[in-house]
Amino acid sequence: MTEAILLVGGKGTRLRPLTVHTPKPMIPAAGVPFLTHLLARARAAGVEHIVLATSYLAEVFEPHFGDGSELGLHLEYVTEDEPLGTGGAIRNVASRLRSGPDEPVLIFNGDILTGLDIEALVSTHGSSGADVSLHLTRVEDPRAFGLVPTDSTGRVTAFLEKPQTPEEIVTDQINAGAYVFRRSVIDTIPAGRPVSVERETFPGLLASGAHLQGMVDSTYWLDLGTPQAFVRGSADLVLGRAPSPAVPGRCGDRLVLPTASVASDAKLTGGTVVGDGAVVGEGARIDGSAVLAGAVIGAGAVISDSLIGAGARIGDRTVLSGAVVGDGATVGADNELQDGVRVWCGASIPDAAIRFSSDR
Ligand code: GDD
Ligand code: MG
Repeated sequence: MTEAILLVGGKGTRLRPLTVHTPKPMIPAAGVPFLTHLLARARAAGVEHIVLATSYLAEVFEPHFGDGSELGLHLEYVTEDEPLGTGGAIRNVASRLRSGPDEPVLIFNGDILTGLDIEALVSTHGSSGADVSLHLTRVEDPRAFGLVPTDSTGRVTAFLEKPQTPEEIVTDQINAGAYVFRRSVIDTIPAGRPVSVERETFPGLLASGAHLQGMVDSTYWLDLGTPQAFVRGSADLVLGRAPSPAVPGRCGDRLVLPTASVASDAKLTGGTVVGDGAVVGEGARIDGSAVLAGAVIGAGAVISDSLIGAGARIGDRTVLSGAVVGDGATVGADNELQDGVRVWCGASIPDAAIRFSSDR
């Protein structure tokens, strides 16, 4: 039975203020902490033992997921004293692995929403005889990712993390953040110091002649590292475009958790989720957005592509588009906040304080 390591120790800086009190994998997407979807998909693929490599806000994972038995998993947690980077984190949990030297170990970045056929990645790894196999996907703009060119047999020829110059952009195939390592390769990563698997381990393995195999596919794939991507991912889970056995309800245009209260004439569309205990007022219209637990949306508010943090309050008639409102923040009535705006946790915007001018 293949076991897995989940990398969940990053600081999630691009998702601030949502990650000020909550590590990225614990922010709710489609009503449950994002990590639940990844754990449930791994379980559905036959994985039973998972080690979580934690660092930033490490203490919140175990109280929520416990020993994993509710998900049919056996979960273990290993916390780094200092962040060890992706490779260092993998090496740091090696002592918890049960696999023999030649057996495969799955490794996932903890912020990826994907339809990847996990079992296919493991079987490709077995049949190619590779030391490491990588899930690859194609994106329009690969610059924010690890570029992974392959030869005609799918064998990886280079690994270029976040290329800085146009000459380095040699492919649109990127590292999709899911790997299978031969167990013995994990043991060769240096212990006790930070290591980047992308900048050090993969280039080093290639230089020493190791066999890295890429598996490209065109299934659903999204890195939820930015607010826009996170909101998109949550909506795609609700809509059923991104597959997950952990969506708490039927997929469709909206997902309203049982203890939420939504006015009968409010309109929820585009994969909007309304979390536990949240309230949506009369005539509000919410499209493609996530309203987290306990948030209150005023009457006549118009919200699209936005993330409203836990316990935040949005005043009547306020318009939000592409905005992030931190946990416990208050946006008064009759405001208009547009793309990219981030209201910090606990901040307070008075009534009619911010308007958006169309005659710029
Ligand atoms: N335990 C631990 N310790 N985990 C870490 C650490 C650390 O020091 N640093 C990062 N992580 C975790 C993050 O929590 C995340 O789940 C994963 O490692 C990847 O880190 P990100 O910060 O999200 O990296 P990225 O998105 O910029 O780039 C990575 O993912 C891309 C695909 O989304 C790279 O692997 C790229 O090559 C890849 O294309
Ligand atoms: Mg990421």
